[in-house]
Amino acid sequence: MLPAREAGRQALELRGEPWKIATAGWFDRVEQRRSLFARLIGVSPENIALVPATSYGLAVAARNLAAGPGQRVVVIADDFPSNVYTWRAFCARHGCEMVTVERAPDQEWTDAVLGAIDERVAIAAIPNVHWTDGALLDLPRISERVRSIGARLVIDASQSLGAMMLDFTTVQPDFLVAVGYKWLLGPFGLGYLYVADGHLSDEPLEENWISRQGSDDFTRLVDYSDAYREGARRFDVGQRTLFEATPIAIEVLEKMLEWGVENISVTLAAKTQRIAREAAAIGLPPTSQGRRAAHMLGLRLPEEKLASAPGLFAKNQVNVAVRGSAVRISPHVYNDDDDVNRLLSTLAQLVN
Ligand SMILES: Cc1ncc(COP(=O)(O)O)c(C=O)c1O
Repeated sequence: MLPAREAGRQALELRGEPWKIATAGWFDRVEQRRSLFARLIGVSPENIALVPATSYGLAVAARNLAAGPGQRVVVIADDFPSNVYTWRAFCARHGCEMVTVERAPDQEWTDAVLGAIDERVAIAAIPNVHWTDGALLDLPRISERVRSIGARLVIDASQSLGAMMLDFTTVQPDFLVAVGYKWLLGPFGLGYLYVADGHLSDEPLEENWISRQGSDDFTRLVDYSDAYREGARRFDVGQRTLFEATPIAIEVLEKMLEWGVENISVTLAAKTQRIAREAAAIGLPPTSQGRRAAHMLGLRLPEEKLASAPGLFAKNQVNVAVRGSAVRISPHVYNDDDDVNRLLSTLAQLVN
């Protein structure tokens, strides 16, 4: 976003004159970022930790959840690698079993996941949309089942927060993580971890100075404190102050709050629905027959066109993600009708 780039330029200027940064500057803008994000997703800032990556947030969850021999961790097939590797390592360490849920071609992910959840399951580590094509998981239904057997729910919402609302009161995740650089339009390195009230006394991954009580008095940092700062701040990554990037994240969060996530979602739905409809008319079916999120879709490409597709997209300046035999299309509000027309004419060229 242009104003975000400008905020970044100004942040770099300030970083070049660090004597202008007062002690309060280490906290004010960080707390502003935390609060804006909390407001955007409809939770309390006390439940938000500032983390650099999905893998970091998942590592916090893995450090604090328990499972043993005979128990299971459920993930879905072809999920994003950060989730898969985290729980694979977790299961190797704890002696539990990782179960990868597959789905039949005409089956919804929700039904496939529900079918895999029984008393052996200790943790369900799932996304709210599949990262390859936006196929939707019904989190309220899955959560109800997970909680009814006393299992834990960990969600990777990297592919939807900012483009789609999630009802935290109903879903009640134990941990939920999201990168800030996708649908939240922010810089790299500034992600978010939601930590439920019941986990606010859990162990952080690292012991950094600024997440301790009293860290805002720089004259007394060696009066070491055993107490962490309030809420989920104990899970903040070291150097979460990130003077160079925090103002960028603030700028985009303010803008998204002004627009409203619901409005973003409706705007993107109109674009993806038109693309889905016109692509189907030229013989390109969606990869998912079931429910999908409003902001993303996957199209199945004919086998014989796979080799030529990336070159044609590049030539026509169409930026989509070709993954295996599918193409992922994820427009945002910056894509106008001309962009959608160019995509559709490129798809038509591809199949003709
Ligand atoms: C669903 C999902 N989770 C996480 C990530 C990024 O993971 P990490 O923050 O661990 O680099 C991506 C990136 O494409 C993603 O699609």
